Amino acid sequence: MTSHPSVARTREELALARARLDGPVAVVMTMGALHAGHVQLVREARKRADAVIVTIFLNPLQFGPNEDLAKYPRTLDEDLRLLGEEGVDLVFAPGPDVVYQDGDPLVRVSAGHLGEVLEGASRPGHFDGVLTVVAKLLHLTSPGLAFFGQKDAQQLLLIRRTVRDLDFPVEVVAVPTVREPDGLAMSSRNTYLTPFDREVALVLSRALRAGEQAASEGASAIRRAARDVLAAEPGCRVDYLALVHPDTLDDVAEWYRGEALLAVAGRVGPTRLIDNVPLVVGAEERR
Ligand code: PAJ
Repeated sequence: MTSHPSVARTREELALARARLDGPVAVVMTMGALHAGHVQLVREARKRADAVIVTIFLNPLQFGPNEDLAKYPRTLDEDLRLLGEEGVDLVFAPGPDVVYQDGDPLVRVSAGHLGEVLEGASRPGHFDGVLTVVAKLLHLTSPGLAFFGQKDAQQLLLIRRTVRDLDFPVEVVAVPTVREPDGLAMSSRNTYLTPFDREVALVLSRALRAGEQAASEGASAIRRAARDVLAAEPGCRVDYLALVHPDTLDDVAEWYRGEALLAVAGRVGPTRLIDNVPLVVGAEERR
């Protein structure tokens, strides 16, 4: 049976509804335009908690002046229907004036140097905006568990560091990237892609897969394999391809063996897409 989840739009409504939830509570934070990746986060959350809160908030603080805030897809009715089907207990869908009650916040969470590399190099201030809203939403929803996707690996790392460095009383749980059958990582921004651009965009996951397949041969081979795939598709303007340590985001040395993250970002037409895979440099592939 599908029932519409209860929706809180103000701090008062949230506080009242939150007080009625018993047992371990999990939160899944989103910017809406929900897809199967978000749904997977909700399902994992339901396995671990008695009640699940989903936040839907298009956070202006994490968008740069020339980014896609104005055209970001907004599908609230459809999102609520989907979350009802998934048995979500409470949806917090505030407007910017509810979250930022005094306008842009004077005091913010700083991502430090980890926020200036990879995504942060192309999107100055982005991660400070993300971490500030995540901190606020953690305070407002007070969950025991918070679920985030591996799809946004740098964001996940920075949220883990925020929770640890600032002692938030919450356990962060990571969920592997959900992909379309052809490999494209699910993203709300995929709706921007024309059918032609969508074909071109597949080069990102293909490049990562090629890197994964070269994992046993070492860092140089991984980088080369992924770069060769990207080079064969001029329709994708690569922003970065990086093989980095998963905790420091520093490029791994040629002789490195162990866990690493292969991350890529590129533009296909007007759309900027990111993807990544965790892998073990020097290990035989398990799949
Ligand atoms: P959004 O892009 O809506 O993503 C919400 C959550 O879903 C994030 O944890 C993200 O990593 C996860 N997610 C997105 N696509 C996924 C996929 N294909 N597989 C698995 N998980 C996926 O990330 C944000 O919103 C915002 O920055 C937010 C954390 C809500 C702060 O505003």
